[in-house]
Amino acid sequence: MDAEVFHSLKNLAQGVAPLADLFHADPSRSEWLTVDACGIHADFSRQRINTTLYEALLHAADVADIHGSFKKMMAGDIMNVTEDRAVGHLALRAPATSSPLAQQAAGQLGRARQLADNIRSGAVNGATGKSFTTVINIGIGGSDLGPAMATRALRRFANGPVVKFVSNIDGADLDEALHGAQPESTLFVVSSKTFTTLETMHNAERARHWIQARVPDWSQHFVAATAHAEAALNWGIQKDHCLEFFDWVGGRFSLSSVIGFPMMCSIGGDQFSDFIAGMAEMDNHVVTAPANVNIPMMHALIWWMNSALHSFSTVAVIPYSHDLSRLPAYLQQLVMESNGKSVGTDGRSVLGGTSPVVWGEAGTNGQHAFFQMLHQGTQIVPVEFVTTASSLGTDDEAHDLLFANVIAQSEALAAGRVHAEPHKTFEGNRPSSVLVLDELNPRGLGSLIAMYEHSAVIQGWLMGVNSFDQWGVELGKVLAVDAASAIAGGSQSDTKTMTHPLLNWYISIRKKLSRKQ
Ligand code: F6P
Repeated sequence: MDAEVFHSLKNLAQGVAPLADLFHADPSRSEWLTVDACGIHADFSRQRINTTLYEALLHAADVADIHGSFKKMMAGDIMNVTEDRAVGHLALRAPATSSPLAQQAAGQLGRARQLADNIRSGAVNGATGKSFTTVINIGIGGSDLGPAMATRALRRFANGPVVKFVSNIDGADLDEALHGAQPESTLFVVSSKTFTTLETMHNAERARHWIQARVPDWSQHFVAATAHAEAALNWGIQKDHCLEFFDWVGGRFSLSSVIGFPMMCSIGGDQFSDFIAGMAEMDNHVVTAPANVNIPMMHALIWWMNSALHSFSTVAVIPYSHDLSRLPAYLQQLVMESNGKSVGTDGRSVLGGTSPVVWGEAGTNGQHAFFQMLHQGTQIVPVEFVTTASSLGTDDEAHDLLFANVIAQSEALAAGRVHAEPHKTFEGNRPSSVLVLDELNPRGLGSLIAMYEHSAVIQGWLMGVNSFDQWGVELGKVLAVDAASAIAGGSQSDTKTMTHPLLNWYISIRKKLSRKQ
């Protein structure tokens, strides 16, 4: 974005009157700042926006040619320039006939759905003939967070094997998943785009030993979801258990690929298709709806305004839905890995803040933990309430109370309270949005997740960063390999680094501990 335009937007943002004055001056603001589409009611009226800033933001989106960028992305242009890759996650849910990429994707998704349904029906069983009652996904980052979040969110639709997720290299994670599981009836899904990730390959190796101890014909108990089929086949995955996605699908954008396989095992192929239909509906909305009634566009402009123009460094995403409790963790990767950058696509420093720190916890639990700070702390933290119109559990009265709390918290943040005693004063003017899903079902969840995918990408385009690379995670991976080989070698290092005293201390303490065992 042009520096002059950026600074004029920043001045406009900082000149916006307090929310109380805005509501007083224009009682209709909730009409033009609320958008209903794709089963989502999005209320942005308690964000620090007046009509001038609103028009200016919409104009900025127009100048940034967001629509044109989506078109290029869908045409298969190299949008991920630093990795020289196309960005094709929209093709994963487009009709098979719409492009060669969509056709490739549909073929693999069809194979995955069929395999999941065969596992669920007992047409595909373990090597000893027992049906699979436990499915354990081994993967990390985009190969874990999306399917783990979605499987939990749709747990009321689960009618297949128990599905668990293991991601951490800490052995305690796999230990917990194996507790109570039987090798004869357990299926592992090794989910890894690259099929090289240290954590995943280490855990997969351990899982293989665990199966092999009781079932020599172990390969019947493994499925791979990967973009590197050759590596998976070399590892020993059977050809018909090797589900593929593609170089042109980023890990954090891969939930609608075969990375969704654990979800398919849990809810079945048809329900997964509904999830994909919800995503496709949102994909169509983002490219066809005018900007002022386009939920991902409005959402992105607001998140960008808060981080880049107001320099609010964090955003709290609070699902008022127990089943959506993994949403903040999923969004951390989607938003922070995509946009946590300081240089633009052109290699130059960006203007203004980029990704906010995304964090959160299910409401109402969060109210009794950190909301004190949100209401009266010295930092302004924009809050995003995500909830559902229809009740999820069996207690409708509880759902009314849950929703009442969303309203109460939004009101308290925005309006505040004047009080004679300073410690009972709420200054208000604290921004928040409310996103209400009609229903937390596969279609609704698909629509919500595609909305967040598009918003993250649009924010990246507004910032001028490449939302599709993640060079910032590479250095740590390389250094971990060096540190692991030093620990395995057991000899003290004399290379002077900032951490070699800690490494040497660990090597000596490990020796002492292993002598004791
Ligand atoms: O942490 C970096 C990262 O490359 C993520 O982008 C990715 O989702 C994750 O690691 C897992 O990678 P893979 O699916 O290749 O195992």
